[in-house]
Amino acid sequence: MDEGFNEPITVAITGASGAQYGLRLIEALVSANHEVWVMISKAAYLVIATETEQALPARPERLEEVLVERSGAVPGQIRCFGREDWMAPVASGSGAASAMVICPCSTGTLSAVATGASNNLIERAADVALKERRRLILVPRETPLSAIHLEHMLNLTRLGAVILPAAPGFYHQPVSIDDLVDFIVARILNQLGIAHRLMPRWGERSDGRENA
Ligand SMILES: Cc1cc2nc3c(=O)[nH]c(=O)nc-3n(C[C@H](O)[C@H](O)[C@H](O)COP(=O)(O)O)c2cc1C
Repeated sequence: MDEGFNEPITVAITGASGAQYGLRLIEALVSANHEVWVMISKAAYLVIATETEQALPARPERLEEVLVERSGAVPGQIRCFGREDWMAPVASGSGAASAMVICPCSTGTLSAVATGASNNLIERAADVALKERRRLILVPRETPLSAIHLEHMLNLTRLGAVILPAAPGFYHQPVSIDDLVDFIVARILNQLGIAHRLMPRWGERSDGRENA
C-alpha cells in the first residue's frame, strides 16, 4: 500500500448487468484518495462491452492504464489483478487489509462466494474477506430471484457480508441514468464509511446541511 493513499479497497466487477455501477465506484474511490484494487471477471468484459461505449483490455497492466486514465487516478493508485493471479495480496489473509465490494455481483459469483468455491481470484478474495471478518459488500442484480439466490443471500448476510441490491430508489427525482448509478454508489460508500457528495443522505438538504 502506498503511504500517500487511503487504505486499499478491492472492487470486483462480475458479469451481472450494471457494469456502470462498478466503474463509477472505482472513480468515486479514486476521488476519495483510496488505493483501488480491481478485478474484472471474464463475463464482465462482455457485459462492459455490451453496456458501455468502452471495451476494456483484459491484460492487467493495460487495464490499469485505461482505468487510471478514465478515473483521473494517479499512477499507482489503481492495481489490477488477473483471474488466476494467486500471488496478488487479495489472495491471502496476510495481504493488506481492505474492504471488498463485488459490484455488480452475478448470481454465479454470489453462489460461488456463498459456497466458498474460490475457483478464481474474485471468489478467493471474497472467501478471504469472509474468513478474516473484513467488510464484504455484494451488489447483486437479477430479477426475479430464485430460492437459490435468496438462500445464498441469507447465508452471506448471516456470515457478515452486506447484500446491497442494485435497486436504485426514485425519491431523489433522478433525471439521468448517472443519477440512478450514483444512488447505488452512494449507498456503497455509506457502507464503507467514506464521505461523498454524490447525493444527500436522508434528512439532509441537497446543499449538504441538516434539515431544520
Ligand atoms: C449482457 C449480459 C448480461 C447479463 N446480466 C446478468 C445479470 O443481470 N445478472 C446475473 O446474475 N447474470 C447476468 N449475466 C450472466 C452472467 O454473466 C453469467 O452467469 C456468468 O457466468 C457470470 O460469471 P462471473 O460471475 O464470473 O462474472 C449476463 C450476461 C451477459 C452477457
